[in-house]
Amino acid sequence: MRVGIEALGVAVPPTCVAMEDLARARGVEPSKYLDGIGTWRMSVAQDDEDTVTLAAQAGHMALTSAGVPANDIGLLVVGTETAVDHSKPVASYVQSLLGVGRRCRVFETKHACYGGTAALQMALDWIRSGSAAGKKALVICSDIARYGLKTAGEPTQGAGAVALLVSDDPKILSLEPDRTGICSTDVHDFWRPLYSKDAFVDGPYSVQCYLDALTGAYEHFQERNPGVTTDSFAAIAYHVPYGKMARKAHRQLRAMEGDLTPDASFEALVGSSLTLPAQVGNIYTGSLYLALASTLATSPLSLDGKRIGLFSYGSGSCAEFFAGTVTPGAQDRVKKLGLQSLLDHRRVLSIEEYEAIMRERDGLDTRPAAPAPADTFRYLGVDAHRRTYLAPNS
Ligand code: CAA
Repeated sequence: MRVGIEALGVAVPPTCVAMEDLARARGVEPSKYLDGIGTWRMSVAQDDEDTVTLAAQAGHMALTSAGVPANDIGLLVVGTETAVDHSKPVASYVQSLLGVGRRCRVFETKHACYGGTAALQMALDWIRSGSAAGKKALVICSDIARYGLKTAGEPTQGAGAVALLVSDDPKILSLEPDRTGICSTDVHDFWRPLYSKDAFVDGPYSVQCYLDALTGAYEHFQERNPGVTTDSFAAIAYHVPYGKMARKAHRQLRAMEGDLTPDASFEALVGSSLTLPAQVGNIYTGSLYLALASTLATSPLSLDGKRIGLFSYGSGSCAEFFAGTVTPGAQDRVKKLGLQSLLDHRRVLSIEEYEAIMRERDGLDTRPAAPAPADTFRYLGVDAHRRTYLAPNS
């Protein structure tokens, strides 16, 4: 049975920061953020947006682009590390915003940036096992990455969501859930204690943990896929906390294969995957899938029928290297989503506006609910400790 991604949806806030502006405000050479980190724009969420609204927007795009009614969904999972409640899952809010029916398993998954991949792999197995009974799964990766003002992690923030419609009719990518490579270790490279809105990170150690996990997952992948090398793929999408990390990852894999000039293959195999992430920043669970969307939307090559590699890394840590085959026509389907135009239509914030938004975010969890225009999915505020939302034209 073929299983995989039938449709994609992407959501980003309507505002962003230009990294050269941020660099100047922080007294840093702009080339450090643009080239050293590899990000040009960083998405910044507005006060009526959160993990729920971004997830709903992305889910809505995936369903409408596929022409699939919400009632066809039998499994709705949101992978996130920036949830809005300790008990109620983001997925429950999304269920009502999208009008998904009651005969559906609805929950949230967490393992840092790996949470979405955990949900995707589970969804693939759910379909392969027959439990889906003709229904489809909607897996949504949604996060607002926040390290805090003037921290080393600040230029690696971002906000956005990617939704994956998963079914036995994979019009985008067929996946191979029985041949993935996995590596998990208990490490403290990046975490967010219950009392903190901002992530804690040991930056250089987190880079090393990512690379160690990549090595472990790729070795396992090669054991399960004898003879496969990075040259077996037409493209590779890595988890992208920032563009330079993908370059370090690619160097690592090529070095493992004895390549003395690992950068020589970077542009051809990885370059297209970074076009969209470089304009959004880190979106944690969704970063790998934004890199996949970027590959399909911007690669100059025809990837029809070609195998591509994917690497997911979640701090803490759990990592998975897996592969899929691009369905003929997938690139046109993803191009029709107009993702570059979505990014082009964002407003670039001044650094003063960005800093004010960052300072106000802590108060949003207790802001009293207030009416808002019903032109998109919106977070209205809190009413008797209950978060309230609005769907377009509801
Ligand atoms: N022009 C061009 N390049 C420059 C430069 C300049 N003027 N100045 C510095 N650089 C380069 C540096 O040489 C360096 O490149 P290399 O890594 O290739 O050596 C790069 O810019 C970054 O410089 P620093 O290492 O000095 O940067 P930093 O101390 O500010 O920290 C960071 C960078 C560790 C990524 C930090 O931003 C951070 O902690 N980010 C959050 C953690 C993170 O994203 N970790 C990734 C792995 S964990 C993961 O993937 C999970 C997840 O999503 C969080």
